Amino acid sequence: MMPNKKTPAPSTDTVEIIKSEVKPSGLEKMRVTGGNRLNGSIRISGAKNAALKHMCASLLTDEPLHLENMPTGLQDVRTLAELLSHLGVTIALRQDSVATLHAGTIQSHVAPYDLVRKMRASVIVLGPLLARHGKAEVSLPGGCALGARPVDLHLKGFQSMGATIELDGGYIKATAPKGGLMGAEIVFPFVSVGATENLMMAATLANGATVLKNAAREPEIVDQGEALIKMGAKITGLGTPEIRIEGVKKLHGATHCVVPDRIETGTYMCAVGLCGGELRLQNTRTDFLSSLIAPLKEAGMDIRQEGDDVIVKRNGGKLKGVDIMTEAYPGFATDLQAQFMTMLTLCDGAGMISETIFENRFMHVPELCRMGANISIKGNSAIIRGVEKLKGAEVMATDLRASVAMVLAGLVAEGDTIINRIYHLDRGYENIVEKLTAVGAKIERVR
Ligand code: EPZ
Repeated sequence: MMPNKKTPAPSTDTVEIIKSEVKPSGLEKMRVTGGNRLNGSIRISGAKNAALKHMCASLLTDEPLHLENMPTGLQDVRTLAELLSHLGVTIALRQDSVATLHAGTIQSHVAPYDLVRKMRASVIVLGPLLARHGKAEVSLPGGCALGARPVDLHLKGFQSMGATIELDGGYIKATAPKGGLMGAEIVFPFVSVGATENLMMAATLANGATVLKNAAREPEIVDQGEALIKMGAKITGLGTPEIRIEGVKKLHGATHCVVPDRIETGTYMCAVGLCGGELRLQNTRTDFLSSLIAPLKEAGMDIRQEGDDVIVKRNGGKLKGVDIMTEAYPGFATDLQAQFMTMLTLCDGAGMISETIFENRFMHVPELCRMGANISIKGNSAIIRGVEKLKGAEVMATDLRASVAMVLAGLVAEGDTIINRIYHLDRGYENIVEKLTAVGAKIERVR
């Protein structure tokens, strides 16, 4: 546990949202030419799914929150910055992976449709706004490429804490009781990352204690909890299914270093599995990737931690087919399923993948099949029979992880693969073209 200590706040007099070198455009494509092994080093960025929640936590205090190892180049970070500045947060995102967010006063409690529709994670502003400001209006995020994705668990949790929830004109209108939110015991019927985070943040400023049972245990939630503790929150049980939060009157500024992105780490591990070679993944950890590393080793890869780096190698022949099932952490991450499947397309034998988190997360399958993969789907399971080779094609993907799966397939396919709609990639993979080029891949943005 980090010490509960007030950190001197850096100044945020100037708003300095760095310019994006990557202009998200529906027209931009990526060309990947397959065939090269990957050798060299890649520095892993801070975790997108932790960074976004830390940004929302800045709403909980009138003092600045200083974040290091922030993936400031990600489009999702910029989209959320836009929403938060609409709510009154002064934000500096710097190129050296440092961000400062200062919510001196809340100027608006409304997260409008136009901003929320770009990114579902915007719903995480609900808890902090409700806790500090007493009210929040957030556009209902609606479904997405991964399925219906309701937020009922978030809303039921806020109701248990005494909030009134109204759905009106496509908006969630939430109001805290007069004296503020009240601590409650909240038992989740199933594990939800977002609901755990939203309610944990709301509970930090509630009256009395909140206990979250069957809470999510993802490393990003532990990271978020540790940052909140540095801000003065009283939280125990992080990383276990029962989190206890003792409400306090006020939170203060803090400095926090964002945990490495385990999904980016795992993505590059799968890339080595497909292409062969040896990568040093810098500034990351194996301990929160056991559920990926075990099947990768079983398939024939060599992975080890060396200080702050992870060395990942495949120098021998084909990988062996293995079976996996996605589950809440510490199980196999749904956010690595598409990449792992892509790796299995060239395995010796066959592998089976069952997706238990999202109802619609096999959108990469038809695209992989167009490149020559042999995959059949039955319900929420896919059988992947290894083929000799993939062939480059023009492909398209409808979510972030499916898009990166296309990049991985392109890295090993014969000829050129053209990937459309690459704005998905820019949402969640910092400098992917530069990082892969540096280790020998042939990949470029094209119009
Ligand atoms: C987070 O989404 C991540 N997003 C996702 O990453 C990740 O795939 C997911 O957790 C699971 O690990 C962010 O952190 C921004 P959930 P979240 O609530 O919080 C259902 C990526 O590629 N559910 O754990 O939305 C839900 O529909 C993304 O980076 C309800 O039914 O996930 C899903 O089937 C995509 N009601 C399941 O629970 C609710 O109120 C798990 O969702 C909440 C969730």
